[in-house]
Amino acid sequence: MIETNLDTTCHIGEVTFKNPVVMASGTFGFGREYGRVYDLSKLGGISGKGITLHPRPGNPGIRVYETPSGMLNSVGLENPGIQTFLQEECLFWETLDTVRIVNLGGGTIQDYIEGARLIDEDSNRRSAAGRRAVDMIELNISCPNVKAGGMAYGIKTSIAREVVREVRAATTLPLMVKLSPNAEDIADMAQMCEQEGAEAVSLINTVSGMKIDVHRRRSVFENLYAGLSGPAIKPIALRMVHQVCQRVSIPVVGMGGISCAEDLIEFVMAGAEAVQIGTYNFVNVQAGADLAAGVERFMAEEGIASLSEIRGIL
Ligand SMILES: Cc1cc2nc3c(=O)[nH]c(=O)nc-3n(C[C@H](O)[C@H](O)[C@H](O)COP(=O)(O)O)c2cc1C
Repeated sequence: MIETNLDTTCHIGEVTFKNPVVMASGTFGFGREYGRVYDLSKLGGISGKGITLHPRPGNPGIRVYETPSGMLNSVGLENPGIQTFLQEECLFWETLDTVRIVNLGGGTIQDYIEGARLIDEDSNRRSAAGRRAVDMIELNISCPNVKAGGMAYGIKTSIAREVVREVRAATTLPLMVKLSPNAEDIADMAQMCEQEGAEAVSLINTVSGMKIDVHRRRSVFENLYAGLSGPAIKPIALRMVHQVCQRVSIPVVGMGGISCAEDLIEFVMAGAEAVQIGTYNFVNVQAGADLAAGVERFMAEEGIASLSEIRGIL
């Protein structure tokens, strides 16, 4: 830790993050295992593994495959369901001194609404008892398994609008909507989220990709396509974050391939309020702690007192 008066704080609505380093959904579980390796209070926040109203077993077959500078995954949102999350994982989350974000997925609009309502109710009950466990909902409309009339919610703005509107109405918790790079127009999508009352947008989720096993003459994945993440997608993510920041005035949380402090600073310079770290957690188990320290080091070396000095500087 560097002993200075550096201001690394970030803000989404009333929520303050002590630094811009947030762990990305699906790459950090609910934080328990990583908490045995380093102190999670070093993190700006954690976005938990995506949860759905009902438990999901996830996809059969191969789920992850390493690619040049990245990986493909087809996990299929395996999760224990919201009730188990609220009963078990929230007890752990109550103890954490970092921003706790529930990543909410769904199969139908009703699932999303009911899920948001349950999280909201539980959150109110815990907060009233002084045992807050959840600070924000990250609405994942970009899950490749979520279909509406054959079209993923995250692709068409008009379909996504209904989900965002209904979930917004179902919770008073701050709402961040996670966007897909596979959207027809990601800046349009972000603008819609702002219009519907979201406090923030986060982007990008994985980029749809493919891997063929030439000996078996078929896709490696049962679902045919899978989601590409890691350094391979960083230039795309950075460009999209920059485009979205030009279009909306709510905070933008950037992610995609961040693997060092300089990567993170690029996203901030493109306009991101904070960032999320996904695949790099699989490369460096201490990724969060290292990046939080790396940001401070970069700021000290470059004579930057507050991240706000360089945010959106482009
Ligand atoms: C194995 C794996 C599981 C993921 N699961 C989720 C999930 O449940 N919900 C979600 O919104 N994003 C999920 N993601 C996407 C990441 O949160 C992130 O958006 C993406 O991987 C890009 O960031 P990265 O390049 O730093 O990994 C998952 C990614 C990976 C690699």
